[in-house]
Amino acid sequence: MVQQRVAVIGASGYGGLQTLRLLADHPQLTVTYLGGERSSGRRWSELVPFLPLPGDPIVQSPDPEAIAAAADLVVLSLPNGLASRLVPDLLDRGLKVVDLSADYRYRSLSQWREVYAAEAREHPRDDAALCAEAVYGLVELEEERIAAARLVAAPGCFPTASLLALSPFLRQGLIESSGIIIDAKTGTSGGGRAAKEHLLLAEASEAVSPYGVVGHRHTSEIEQLATQVAGQPIQLQFTPHLMPMVRGLLATVYARLRDPGLTAEDCTTLLEVAYRHSDSVSVLPVGTYPSTKWVRQTNRALLSVQVDQRTGQLIVMSAIDNLVKGQAGQGVQALNLMAGLPASLGLPLLPFYP
Ligand SMILES: NC(=O)c1ccc[n+]([C@@H]2O[C@H](COP(=O)([O-])OP(=O)(O)OC[C@H]3O[C@@H](n4cnc5c(N)ncnc54)[C@H](OP(=O)(O)O)[C@@H]3O)[C@@H](O)[C@H]2O)c1
Repeated sequence: MVQQRVAVIGASGYGGLQTLRLLADHPQLTVTYLGGERSSGRRWSELVPFLPLPGDPIVQSPDPEAIAAAADLVVLSLPNGLASRLVPDLLDRGLKVVDLSADYRYRSLSQWREVYAAEAREHPRDDAALCAEAVYGLVELEEERIAAARLVAAPGCFPTASLLALSPFLRQGLIESSGIIIDAKTGTSGGGRAAKEHLLLAEASEAVSPYGVVGHRHTSEIEQLATQVAGQPIQLQFTPHLMPMVRGLLATVYARLRDPGLTAEDCTTLLEVAYRHSDSVSVLPVGTYPSTKWVRQTNRALLSVQVDQRTGQLIVMSAIDNLVKGQAGQGVQALNLMAGLPASLGLPLLPFYP
């Protein structure tokens, strides 16, 4: 079986670690290069003793020439603003790239500069053509384009859960284009591995806190895709909450049904049809609601629908593991497609419960 070689840049962070763990079980993708900044020069077994890698490699300071010599495909799992410093050189050398950050999620560079203003000041860039070229990596919406792409922007974790819930209804024009509300909860690993005061155990445990209320960066990302799917401008309300758990994300989406006669059973059937070809998205029976624990450490999204006939509201619940379907697992789905493989090859779909 021909193995394709993968470089993972940002290997020591949460996204890098999940990618390495997933690829350890992969039948056709092999990790051949590890990149990092503070960790560069360190032997892997000293840095991450709990996840041994063949050959016990040394982490490198990312060098496009060396990456091109070692790999065919690259996963970039870096803080926002850094991928764009590497991507043009990597593409020039014929590599295919999956970026887990937000650097290429917007079709327009000026919108990225507006939303990620601090990063844009710190890391000036001028690659508008690559922003326009990059394919948004939500496999369930863009499978064919991802398979043909050389640059894929993996979606954010909140956009993944939210868009899987919303897209089938927007595409069919079944919900009002205004008044959509997304109320979402995430575990603390959503903030990455670098130290942050609000993610300390003493701050985050035994507490539920909203953050980014009005204007969270993922709002515009969700709106961009929702607008594309609906074929008309969509503005929505998105409020995230930090939960006292390590991993997991639950988005509850509220929208007004255009046809008040639609039932929860009708809407469930619509989702089942929309995701009938996807291994990674499952729809629960009416009245069964997803828990983050049911998708922990898996690449599965679990959806469930309810309709409140009294208010005319559609309620769609969507649970994912933020680090797998919301980040690294989705990245591996894109790698698979770019390598000519089935999207879910090598990916875990069932949890070890509890
Ligand atoms: N966490 C989530 O749930 C989630 C979900 C979806 C998307 N994302 C996105 O995925 C990306 C990675 O997130 P994360 O949570 O994995 O972050 P993280 O845990 O903070 O890891 C960041 C990684 O980047 C490396 N790095 C930092 N500066 C670097 C540089 N100049 N050159 C090379 N490597 C450098 C770090 O390595 P060193 O220690 O060696 O410097 C570290 O391995 C972010 O853009 C994030 O927004 C995160």
